[in-house]
Amino acid sequence: MSEEPKQTRISRRNALGLFGATVSGAAAGPLVLGAGTAEAMPATSEVTGLTTGSPTTPVQGLHLTFGADPRSQMVVSWVTDAAVKNPRVVYGTLSGGFGSTAHAKTKTYVDGTSGRTVWVHHALISKLKADTDYLYAAQHDGATPDAGTFHTAPSGRAPFTFTSFGDQGAPSVTWKTGANPADASGRDFEPNATPAAADIVTGIEKVGPLFHLLNGDLCYANTGPDRVRVWRDFLTNNSRSARFRPWMPAAGNHEIELGNGKLGLDAYQTYFELPSTETQPELDNLWYSFTVGSVKVITLQNDEIALQEGGDIYIKGYSGGRQLAWLEKELKSARASKDIDWIVICMHQVMISSATAANGADLALREAYGPLFDKYGVDLVVCGHEHDYERSLAVRGVVPGSVTLTPNPSQTALDVIESEHGTTHMILGGGGVSGITNNSFTTDDADGHGHHSAYVQTEHVGKFNSVKEQETAVWIGVRDAEHPYGFAEFNVDPGRHPGDMTRIHVTYYNIITPTGELSVFEKFTLQRRRSDGGHGHH
Ligand SMILES: [Fe+2]
Ligand SMILES: [Fe+2]
Repeated sequence: MSEEPKQTRISRRNALGLFGATVSGAAAGPLVLGAGTAEAMPATSEVTGLTTGSPTTPVQGLHLTFGADPRSQMVVSWVTDAAVKNPRVVYGTLSGGFGSTAHAKTKTYVDGTSGRTVWVHHALISKLKADTDYLYAAQHDGATPDAGTFHTAPSGRAPFTFTSFGDQGAPSVTWKTGANPADASGRDFEPNATPAAADIVTGIEKVGPLFHLLNGDLCYANTGPDRVRVWRDFLTNNSRSARFRPWMPAAGNHEIELGNGKLGLDAYQTYFELPSTETQPELDNLWYSFTVGSVKVITLQNDEIALQEGGDIYIKGYSGGRQLAWLEKELKSARASKDIDWIVICMHQVMISSATAANGADLALREAYGPLFDKYGVDLVVCGHEHDYERSLAVRGVVPGSVTLTPNPSQTALDVIESEHGTTHMILGGGGVSGITNNSFTTDDADGHGHHSAYVQTEHVGKFNSVKEQETAVWIGVRDAEHPYGFAEFNVDPGRHPGDMTRIHVTYYNIITPTGELSVFEKFTLQRRRSDGGHGHH
């Protein structure tokens, strides 16, 4: 190198100051980490490794996901709209400052509609300390670094908080855009966008969970006039939270994009680097699991199972049974483990729903998952797809003789639920999408005993077109007919000693329209006996 970078001293204090300025969006001046390119004319600090230089291709959509072991691994991801050199993350503990470097791998896809290539960089950071705050900055040669912080998962049984919602969209500024494809001037709007898609991110940051579960239908890029832009706006919006805590996604039907791979999931599989163990590359990142404390989270891709055709391509059965076989293995090992108490399923389409202007439950999901969830005692299912909030009573088995395999409530309690005896399903589809369905819950007297009806898809006959059967929805728990938007917070209390009771305290928050304020809709508790008691449940 003939051009020797000019040395500049930057104290740790200044580096942290720059970090803060970067996060808040204030002008901190262009910075480059490590050895910059010749054209960037960088100046490198011998103390921090930070260098200044000219920004070229900016870091966009910075976001985190857990690695396979959330105690010691984190993936830092970002997007660029050109190829870049040496994508990397510098990181260290919050008290110690930057000091280590993790190099990123780059994945790309070519959007089939626009022909545009998208570059996504994923740096896996390993050998982190459990339950510890870290500071990091992502960059590539010539770019201004973009920074964040994260907290690693605790080791063993410990209290922590996670959150969940689905069906978000990229945010719009006004409430008018809705699903309207164009105004009188002929300008395209993004379908499905509302301001709630931004407000809900602020809501998650107010709670500040260890991680967030994003239950599919992430941004509805497949319905928009510019898919790449919708994805970028979605990632930019969520980066306000996802750079500080992992947002763990499930792929929903609106992630299936025409022209983007055989399954239509190329964009999703490129934007995220998830702890998938699948060995077939075309199935990578579609289902995965991770464990935090005593909670095992299993994330599924339901378009393989569902009867309903809800994406640009009908992909039912695409893994030839690999996903279901994997699911049963995961469930079996989780229930056999003395370290795991709770099994949480994150998926998109639903096994329960009593909204009439929506999709309804899907019989194929009940057939495939119902017996497994019962056998291995799944505690909680978080899903979306219906654009409302509804939760079931704890259910186990089916109502005898029901052709729709109606989930059978194991208890009537709504406030404290004995989770060992039934699975609670929560539809959390109020993440911000415009086409809301909370105004269409059934209120009839279906059986003469005050139970309402619900609809179940029993046969596929085309896109969003299914044969539906009516059932008496004896499983209905709580529904929010008044508010379309909101998310759930889960506080895990691990208990104090082996065999003690452990609890998950759940709060469902509304995002109030049009202001975006948070308000509590309801609270309830799931409880079960810890799996480390030695002589089982009494
Ligand atoms: Fe949706
Ligand atoms: Fe959906």
